[in-house]
Amino acid sequence: MLTFALPTGRSFAACVEILENAGLPANGLRDPGRNLVIDGGTDGGGRRYRYLLGKPSDIPTLISQGVADLALVGSDVTGESCAELAELLDTRRGRCYMAIAGPPELASRFGGHSSELMGLRVATKYDRTARRTFEAWGVQIRILYLHGSVELAPALGLADCIFDIVQTGGTLKANGLSVIKRAAEVSLRLVADPGALQLRWDDLRSAVSALEKNT
Ligand code: PRP
Repeated sequence: MLTFALPTGRSFAACVEILENAGLPANGLRDPGRNLVIDGGTDGGGRRYRYLLGKPSDIPTLISQGVADLALVGSDVTGESCAELAELLDTRRGRCYMAIAGPPELASRFGGHSSELMGLRVATKYDRTARRTFEAWGVQIRILYLHGSVELAPALGLADCIFDIVQTGGTLKANGLSVIKRAAEVSLRLVADPGALQLRWDDLRSAVSALEKNT
């Protein structure tokens, strides 16, 4: 049996399409209801595929704990995870980007010397990625960690800007914020545990190569 972990939420539909396009058994994924463990059926060689549906930020844990062999997960999540993951494929699906966003008048501070950004108050749920991004520009920031709805923070005076993912830009617009600086591009990646990959490569090879050929 091969067990795949998939993220619930906005990238789930793209994951199902990726699996179907690769011809992998994906029965039951179009309409999982409230089920979190889905029997996808068997491939031509009789191998059974099982899917575990988890919160995006928990997908690296399902891989590192050895309960899933492979996973599709956004690079926004892998960039935050402490788990060591082997990235096997960039599917180029589920694309969005990470950005610094804030009230439009903040843009001028970003146009000048990096010292103008020292101590900037940044609200985010991507605290590790945000810190890394600003450190690469030589800037120390103050992070306000929020689990979601980070767009609230500038309006309430809790932060100067946010560091978040942007897909349609609709959430920013609805909250009077603009993209000030674009950071990393985000897409769905195929990942595995590096140790398990070495031990089980012969079992995983056909699924990985079907995904490589068809995405
Ligand atoms: C994400 C992100 C933004 C929004 C961006 O939030 O944190 O809020 O999507 O998408 P858009 O550019 O298409 O508007 P999510 O919906 O995952 O929920 P959250 O705010 O609770 O984190």
